[in-house]
Order: sequence, then C-alpha cells, then structure tokens
Amino acid sequence: MNTKTNNAIGVFDSGIGGLTVVRSLMERLPFENIIYFGDTARVPYGIKSVETINRYAAQITEFLIKKDVKLLIVACNTMAAVAHQSIIDLSPVPVLEVIDASARIATKSTRTKSIGVIGTPATINSNAYTRAIHLLDKEAKVFSQACPLFVPLVEEGWFDHPATKLIVQEYLKPVIAEQIDTLVLGCTHYPLLKPLLQDILGPEVTLIDSAEAMADIAADLINKQNMGNQNCLPPDYVFYVSDLPYRFQTIGERFLGRTLGRVELVSL
Ligand code: DGL
Repeated sequence: MNTKTNNAIGVFDSGIGGLTVVRSLMERLPFENIIYFGDTARVPYGIKSVETINRYAAQITEFLIKKDVKLLIVACNTMAAVAHQSIIDLSPVPVLEVIDASARIATKSTRTKSIGVIGTPATINSNAYTRAIHLLDKEAKVFSQACPLFVPLVEEGWFDHPATKLIVQEYLKPVIAEQIDTLVLGCTHYPLLKPLLQDILGPEVTLIDSAEAMADIAADLINKQNMGNQNCLPPDYVFYVSDLPYRFQTIGERFLGRTLGRVELVSL
C-alpha cells in the first residue's frame, strides 16, 4: 500500500468517548489530519457480546481503510480488548490500541506493583488489561472492576454530580481496599471523571489516562517510521458518525473542549 505522510490518522470508537483520544492527539501531533468514526447508532459496545463487537469493529476498520488512513488507532478500550486481532488482520496499515499504551504507562508508574483497572464489563471480562500488564511485569498485582454506570453518567454530563460521586465511591471500594497506587482508566469516557476519581482516591494514587498514553505512543511510532505529515498547515479533521450527528456535535464539543469541524452521517 502506498501510504502518504499527509494521509489522515484514523481513530475510532463506539461513539463519542474516543474524542478524549482525539483531543490528546490534537495536542501532541498538531499537524496531523484526523478522520474519526464514532458508532453512535450502536453505542454502547461495553455490554455487548464478543461476536457482535468483532463484527462492528471489522466494519469500521474497512470503512477507515477505504479512506486511505496511514495509521489506525482503536480508541475504544472495549474494541481493543476483544477485537484487536480481527482489526490487525484486516488492516494494511499499523494499528495502535489503548490497552497496550496504558499498560506500559501503568507498569512504569507503579511503585508498589498494585494496579487497579476500571472499564466496561466487556473490557474487564476479557482480562485484556491483566494480560497486557503481566506481559510487561509478571509480579504486578492487578485488581479489576467493571463500572457499567460510568458511561451513561458521562454521556449525561454528570461529571461531578452527587449521584456520580456515590456511584464512584461504591465501584471503587474493592480497589481502594487493595491499596492500589495506580489506577488505569480503561474506558474512553473515564478521563472526564478524573477530578472526581482523584478526589475519592486521594493524591497518592496515580491515574493513568489511556487517551494521553495513546497520544504518546502514536507520536513515537510516527517519529520512528517517518510518517509525520510534512505539511505544517492547519490540519483537516473530519468526524463520521452512524447516527445523530447534531447530538454528537453538541456533546463532542464538551468532550473536546473546542468546536468540531465537519460531522457527517454515514451508514456502514
Ligand atoms: N468506548 C467504550 C470503551 O472505551 C465505552 C463506551 C461503550 O460501552 O461503548 O470501552
């Protein structure tokens, strides 16, 4: 495949949450064009079966490959956890995913080797984080907790609502009891709960934001493989969604903290 350096980076997610990864990429790689796909018609993925998630991930991969992206970034932890191999099998360009990125940062940051991981039920049940962390450090102890209510709370914009606080306290009880010193935010939506999580866990627990980890690893790969866009012009950002583009635009602007450019409706 003839990959041009000014081709876009393809980023995809089950919906809007992957914009946290886009935000980090925009800051870290300000000249890169980005094409984003959010499957707003079929979100949430985190409570769906492995077969369904694989099928959806394959459709999105094919869509972005047709757009000639030079690199694919699986922003969705749930797809990365259960469909990573199918995506790699279909992709002629490099594929990066958030789980490996976060596991690397978590194992570097922990001092006590007690690491907590929170994510959707599909991500936690897949054990993908535990495997990725143990590949890097066999001695690390990993304590996982599914937090299925976090995604709807974030979508609602309840980042510091009293109800969210109660639910966060309840979900985090078991990981707090294990005296973790590092917590991986294993879902695209969780970085928006960072201040609340930090408040409840205290300053001694380091939060690993998979969006920031992903941007660092993407920047590294782009530099090493000389794939960086040589045109130092304002980049082009295009957002494709499978339903409700206006809702995506409104909530997305809150996720990104900036105006979204083109948002187009597509069906896969
Ligand atoms: N994007 C998903 C993730 O990172 C969260 C939303 C969903 O359940 O689809 O796991």
